Amino acid sequence: MDKAIEFHDIVKNYQVGSVIVRALRSITVNISKNEYVAIMGPSGSGKSTLMNLVGCLDTPTSGTYILNGTDVSKMEDDFLAEIRNKEIGFVFQTFNLLPRYTALENVTLPLIYAGIQKVEREKVAIETLEQVGLADRMAHKPNELSGGQRQRVAIARALVNKPSIILADEPTGNLDSKTSLDIMGLLDDIHRKGNTVILVTHEEDIAKHAARIIRLLDGEISHDYANEKYVKA
Ligand SMILES: Nc1ncnc2c1ncn2[C@@H]1O[C@H](COP(=O)(O)OP(=O)(O)OP(=O)(O)O)[C@@H](O)[C@H]1O
Ligand SMILES: [Mg+2]
Repeated sequence: MDKAIEFHDIVKNYQVGSVIVRALRSITVNISKNEYVAIMGPSGSGKSTLMNLVGCLDTPTSGTYILNGTDVSKMEDDFLAEIRNKEIGFVFQTFNLLPRYTALENVTLPLIYAGIQKVEREKVAIETLEQVGLADRMAHKPNELSGGQRQRVAIARALVNKPSIILADEPTGNLDSKTSLDIMGLLDDIHRKGNTVILVTHEEDIAKHAARIIRLLDGEISHDYANEKYVKA
C-alpha cells in the first residue's frame, strides 16, 4: 500500500534552560494512505509531540520524515507551512477557533491562506460546514455554539483545503460521551471517504473507532497492533 507517513529513527528533544527533555527517543513507523490510527499512552509519553511532527508544526531533532513521498525533515518553515496547508488538517482538544470570527469566517481562513478567490472560498466553506451538519449555524461565533458544534466548525476548518491527512489530538477530550460519539461519527465518515486519519485519545471507547493502535511510553513505541475491536463503519 502507498505510504502517507514514513518516520525513520525520529528523535525530538526540547531544551528547557539547561535541561534536555527527550520527548521522542527513536520512532520508526510507517502509516499507509487511508489508515485509521489511534495513538495512545500516558500523559507526557510524547503523543502531541508526535502529532506536531507528523503535522509539520515542528521539525525533528534528528531522523527522517517522508510525507507523501517528500522528505520534510529538514525543510525551512515557509515550505513546511505550504505543505502543511495542502496536506494536513488539524483538530485540537480545545477547538482553537478564533473567537471574534463567525463559524463561516473561521472555516474560510485556510482558503485565504491558500490564495483561493473570494467567491470560490465562500462556496467551498459553506459546503464544508453543511457537510458537518452546521448549515444553520454559519453566522454564529464560537461562544454562541455548543462544544460539539465548535468541534464541528474545527473539523470543517480542517477539511476545507481537502487535505489527505486529518490529525486530531484528543478531539473529544472536552466533550460529553454523546457528543463525542457524534464527532467520532464524523471522523469515521472522513476516513471512509478516503482520508488518512490519526487521532490521539486516552479513551479505549474512542480508540476502538480506529483500525490500528500505536501506544507510546516514554517517547518510544511500546505497542503497535491491529485493533480487534475495530468494526469498519
Ligand atoms: N514545547 C515544549 N518544551 C519543552 N518540553 C516539552 C514541550 N512540549 C512537550 N514537552 C515535554 O515533552 C514530553 C512529551 O510531551 P507531549 O505533550 O508530547 O505529551 P503527551 O503524550 O501529549 O501528554 P498528554 O497526554 O498530557 O497530552 C513531556 O515530558 C513534556 O513535558
Ligand atoms: Mg498531548
